[in-house]
Amino acid sequence: MDLEGLRINGERLRNSLEEMAKIGATPGGGVHRLALSDEDKTARDLFVKWLEDLAVEITIDEMGNIFGNRPGKNNSLSPVMSGSHIDSQPKGGRFDGILGVMGALEALRSLDENNIETERPITIVDWTNEEGSRFAPAMVGSGVWTGVLDRDWVYDRTDINGKRFEDELIRISYQGSTPVRKWPTHVYYEYHIEQGPILENEKRIIGGPKGILCLHWYDIFLEGEANQVGPTPMEGRHDALCAAAEMILKVNELPQRMGGDLVATVGEIQNYPNSRNIIPDKVHFTVDIRSWDDDHVMAAWESVREDFENIARQRGCPIRIEETLRVDHAVFDEKLVNRVLTSGKKLGYLTLHMISGAGHDASYMNRICPTAMIFVPSIGGRSHVEVEDTRWEDCEAGANVLLHAILQSANER
Ligand code: GLV
Ligand code: MN
Ligand code: MN
Repeated sequence: MDLEGLRINGERLRNSLEEMAKIGATPGGGVHRLALSDEDKTARDLFVKWLEDLAVEITIDEMGNIFGNRPGKNNSLSPVMSGSHIDSQPKGGRFDGILGVMGALEALRSLDENNIETERPITIVDWTNEEGSRFAPAMVGSGVWTGVLDRDWVYDRTDINGKRFEDELIRISYQGSTPVRKWPTHVYYEYHIEQGPILENEKRIIGGPKGILCLHWYDIFLEGEANQVGPTPMEGRHDALCAAAEMILKVNELPQRMGGDLVATVGEIQNYPNSRNIIPDKVHFTVDIRSWDDDHVMAAWESVREDFENIARQRGCPIRIEETLRVDHAVFDEKLVNRVLTSGKKLGYLTLHMISGAGHDASYMNRICPTAMIFVPSIGGRSHVEVEDTRWEDCEAGANVLLHAILQSANER
């Protein structure tokens, strides 16, 4: 078999993505498939069914991570691993995460139908709860597997309705019995949409990120004093929502104040009791800060934290702050990144060496084995939204690059 001429089946990849997009489909053309929801379960079931059609050994671990291991000629060699995540953002897109799982599946299907054996085993993976939207923080499946996060701490995380992570994992029947623990891995490839505008602006098809921005998440809890809005004078109020409003603007102003490549966002807020005629006495909101420079993010956080404390004091609203996630910026393996870019060029695509602004399980995998990612363009740079889109031919292009990168690594002795 001429390995150089091997290609994935673009139509089959598209069909798989379209089938998956039906699970949790939203009227606006996206998907709503939150981690450990019924939709996540249905999509996992379909993924497992498709794995059963391949000659892979399926393992589900205590975190609900799903692995499919395709044996190699020499199974004492560590496997090449590739995958991503099946969960989505609320009213998210049809490509984020699932493209990397379906891309790796398509690569395995192509190897199988061409009877191609590799030296090393190849493992496909779906990591549990990459998004961190329903259960914060993000990337907990890979985080526990790589030994960075504690399993029981993650099990006790709750969603906005007070549901425990572990209870929901059991409810959807995906708490496996295999201990969640890393094993020696030769390399890890994650195929993903870019989720930003760079590839499109630069008119390139394949991105090979040199790494991922650091990611800091904080949860802010404010206490105020509830009262009737009519008879209560404006003076002397302790309005937790007004305190939050001031703080949110401080976060928004932070990148301009600090300079560099910093981005800072408040994306989630809960206000209690959330009645138009009660002064709010409890607010929770989130802060997300990212940059390539970890120290820069720490300096930014210290500065905005001081602002928060001043505002809280001035408004008489006690504040409590939790650090929910802190992942340093990841620098991928240079050799592997070059392999992605070279594979892309060989296949005839215009490539770009770039940086990932979005977080990925690859950040944690990068700590235990050489890691690289493959990006394809997001139309209009839109992602985490229902209109998230990527051209089918670009999905196919990225999967071909993934296939050839996997093949090369899997034939290394
Ligand atoms: C992951 O989806 C992120 O927030 O970057
Ligand atoms: Mn993703
Ligand atoms: Mn995402």
